[in-house]
Amino acid sequence: MNRDASENPVLNEETRKNLMAKSGRWLVTGCAGFIGSHLVETLLKLGQQVVGLDNFATGFRHNLDHVRACVGEEAWRRFTFQEGDIRELEACRNAVSGVDYVLHQAALGSVPRSLKDPLASNEVNVNGFLNMLVAARDEGVKSFTYAASSSTYGDSEALPKVEERIGQPLSPYAVTKYVNELYADVFQRSYGMCTTGLRYFNVFGPRQDPNGAYAAVIPKWIGAMLAGEAVFINGDGATSRDFTFVSNAVQANLLAAINPPPEGGRVFNVACGEQTTLVELFEGLATAVRAGTQQAVAPVRYRDFRVGDVRHSLADINAAASTLGYQPEVPVRDGLALTVDWFIQRARRA
Ligand SMILES: NC(=O)c1ccc[n+]([C@@H]2O[C@H](COP(=O)([O-])OP(=O)(O)OC[C@H]3O[C@@H](n4cnc5c(N)ncnc54)[C@H](O)[C@@H]3O)[C@@H](O)[C@H]2O)c1
Repeated sequence: MNRDASENPVLNEETRKNLMAKSGRWLVTGCAGFIGSHLVETLLKLGQQVVGLDNFATGFRHNLDHVRACVGEEAWRRFTFQEGDIRELEACRNAVSGVDYVLHQAALGSVPRSLKDPLASNEVNVNGFLNMLVAARDEGVKSFTYAASSSTYGDSEALPKVEERIGQPLSPYAVTKYVNELYADVFQRSYGMCTTGLRYFNVFGPRQDPNGAYAAVIPKWIGAMLAGEAVFINGDGATSRDFTFVSNAVQANLLAAINPPPEGGRVFNVACGEQTTLVELFEGLATAVRAGTQQAVAPVRYRDFRVGDVRHSLADINAAASTLGYQPEVPVRDGLALTVDWFIQRARRA
């Protein structure tokens, strides 16, 4: 594999051609965040006009600076940033003005955050989502694609996860993401809006925040390993996830936005369809860190299971494949290597 993670995330040729043929104006909410910044980067590299909306609740200006450095000044001129809060309808209306395609990513992520402060998660993830739907409906956008979540499968133990079979939510965060799906479906049926939800499964990659109490496992572990600190596994290490490199999520967004299913109101799993346990994840990351730094990695430590976490997660991605043409281009192992490499380069630059 010879790919630089700061390069344009991988897109297959058909998606690229489709997109070039249907150029338009895009709104990416949550553009200063992890996934949002990758969407902006790819769209700009594909010659699109992009508006970004963010209030920096969990996103960073340095992510936008990094996108700018990756795309170059000419492409960057096609980007307009609006600092604003999706909890305010006017901010949503301003951002969506003149837009063809909405990629709605802004939300407060993290199960533990929502358990600590369910009101805040609800305000952003439900009220803010509804504001975006209303603004997009009134603007008459061509499509509204939004970040849903694998957390919607809740306590269902069935594997692999198939879109139609969900369980009871295990956290306030999961409730908010499920409510998003219900609202999107109702807006499709009541107002004829074209909405598509993408249930992301543990997305990871460059620019994901490694810091803070609510950091996701992969950047947090890479950060700890590079700092020579021990990594903790919650539970026995057999917990598994379907980890998804960010360029796969980007591909799914672009496909859903430009070629949404005609009946609309659908949700799709976005994952790799590969199961990785936490022990396997630790070993994969430790190997990549050792290879990239010639440094030793501290042995893993174990502690209690975390409330609200699901035990196993593995997606059936057939619906996204057959309806959207989605094909994950970067498998987990390659994605982990690209991500570790990116964090090592970043640490060297700092
Ligand atoms: N990363 C994952 O594994 C994963 C999995 C499932 C779902 N998702 C969903 O994908 C989306 C993007 O997640 P991410 O990992 O990039 O997280 P992120 O925290 O990096 O990005 C979210 C962005 O939304 C912005 N934001 C938050 N509240 C806002 C508000 N009130 N107004 C405007 N902007 C606001 C943040 O500042 C941030 O830039 C979220 O909706 C998240 O729930 C992510």
